[in-house]
Order: sequence, then C-alpha cells, then structure tokens
Amino acid sequence: MKFSSFFILFILVCSCKKDKVDFYSNANCSDTVSFNDEILPLIENNCAGCHDNQNGYSLTNHATISSNSSAIIGAMRKSGYKLMPIDGNGNGYALPDSIIQRMECWVNQGKKNN
Ligand code: HEC
Repeated sequence: MKFSSFFILFILVCSCKKDKVDFYSNANCSDTVSFNDEILPLIENNCAGCHDNQNGYSLTNHATISSNSSAIIGAMRKSGYKLMPIDGNGNGYALPDSIIQRMECWVNQGKKNN
C-alpha cells in the first residue's frame, strides 16, 4: 500500500473511533434495554441517594443519566473514576458485572428513553 493511502486509512479509522467513544465491546446485548424498567431503577437504587444534586452529579432522570453515562460506567468499572457505589463504611464496591453490562448495552443501543 502506498504511504498516502495508508495515511488516508489512518485518518478514517481515527474519525470513526471518535464517534464510538461510548461503545462497550464487552457488553453482551441480546435484547433491548429499557430505560424506565432497568436503568432508572438501577441508578435510583444504587446511586441517586448520593447523587440527587450532591457529590458532583444529579443522576435522577433520562437527560442527566444520558449525559453522564461515561462517568457512570467509568465509576462502576473503576476506569478513570473512583469505584462506585459507596457502602455504609465509605468503601467503593463493584456491582455485579451483569448489571453493569445492562448499562453498557443501554449506551450501545443509543441511550433510548424507552
Ligand atoms: C453512599 C453515597 C454514594 C453512592 C451510593 C454513590 N456515590 Fe458516587 N460519589 C459519592 C461521593 C461522596 C463522591 C465524591 C467522592 C470524592 O470525590 O472523593 C462520589 C463521586 C462520584 C463520581 C466522580 C468520581 C471521580 O473519580 O471523579 C462518579 C462518576 C460517581 N460518584 C458515580 C456514582 C454512581 C454511578 C453510583 C451508583 C452506581 C454512585 N456514584 C453511588 C457518593 C456516593
């Protein structure tokens, strides 16, 4: 391959990656995730008690959960963020992987408000 075509390929790959920053390839998504039945209760039960306009985040509705989805998953996976949620002793702990994957699938599926 000529250097120039390699360069164009490089640019193309980079520009595609930019659009897919929020894609989680380890998420096993065989069905459509429901925001109202799964994601909102998940965040309400595990996060919103401390993040209803406190501690830097307000994770209470579709708009704020969508716009903070990278930080939410980053915290659930301890990837670039402190591990969340926090237990009664003040220690972060990981939710079950199957639950985190539902959140990742919801992002992969376009953060539907369904
Ligand atoms: C018991 C209270 C509590 C719960 C439950 C909780 N958080 Fe937090 N969260 C905090 C506090 C306090 C901080 C600020 C920590 C700090 O800066 O030291 C924080 C910080 C964060 C941050 C920023 C971390 C960073 O490194 O910048 C994110 C993102 C976050 N929480 C997401 C979540 C998510 C998602 C959940 C649910 C899975 C959750 N939190 C559950 C108390 C909580």
